[in-house]
Amino acid sequence: MEGVQEQSVPVFLSGDSSAHSSIRPAHGSDLPYIYDICLKTADAGADASRLFRDPLLIGQYYAAPYFFHDISLCFVLTEAHIPAGYIVAAADTRAFNEWMNRTWLAPLRLRYPLPYPQERTNSPTELQIISLLHQPAEEEPNQTWLSAYPAHLHIDLLSTQQGKGYGRELMKTLCASLQERNVPGVHLGVSKRNCGAVAFYKRMNFTVIQEENWGFILGKKLH
Ligand SMILES: CC(C)(COP(=O)(O)OP(=O)(O)OC[C@H]1O[C@@H](n2cnc3c(N)ncnc32)[C@H](O)[C@@H]1OP(=O)(O)O)[C@@H](O)C(=O)NCCC(=O)NCCS
Repeated sequence: MEGVQEQSVPVFLSGDSSAHSSIRPAHGSDLPYIYDICLKTADAGADASRLFRDPLLIGQYYAAPYFFHDISLCFVLTEAHIPAGYIVAAADTRAFNEWMNRTWLAPLRLRYPLPYPQERTNSPTELQIISLLHQPAEEEPNQTWLSAYPAHLHIDLLSTQQGKGYGRELMKTLCASLQERNVPGVHLGVSKRNCGAVAFYKRMNFTVIQEENWGFILGKKLH
């Protein structure tokens, strides 16, 4: 059986070895924490717990599927060996969307059927995510940039871990992995409300490749 590799990417020590932070490849046992981190950062970077009656829902769409599609593109930041942040990605967004529609979303559509009773949700945001489960994620005609930036990613750190350089290290780790596979570029979506994340991505040399009402699609060339 394969062990968890703690050392394959940079490690940060906080002095006390019982409470050190490190970045390592993701492991299946990280998943419960990944759902929690996703929820605690889902309101444009802030805690979205109050918006969701079902605390697992947001992670079902934006975090967990990446572990099952290609876990080798998922990395976790741990604090005292407990996951406190992650970066997850798919190298080929077209293939990922196809897999999502065919494989991942099918049972979730049965679990959250439409029309979904509003009184069983905590917010319009929760209802929106439920309807997202039923919309096949498809390439849109205006996504002419997709061949140049075929990978996409999501990155989230608990508030206690933000602003310490870990986001940069997670991004470096993922980009190196994508480069090893000769992936030419990576993109992501970010809400206009999430000014901190937009500033972070610009520092990571992402540029705007498409503007939407809700936010930006940002891209970074890898070669
Ligand atoms: C956005 C996020 C991933 C950034 O990671 P981080 O560990 O906090 O960022 P780092 O400490 O590695 O910062 C790297 C650089 O980005 C800059 N940066 C990071 N957050 C910033 C902010 N809120 N405002 C301005 N600049 C910021 C840093 O100043 C640093 O710049 P430098 O190289 O000049 O020092 C992290 O804060 C986070 O998870 N936020 C909540 C969830 C979220 O919004 N995710 C993105 C959803 S699209």
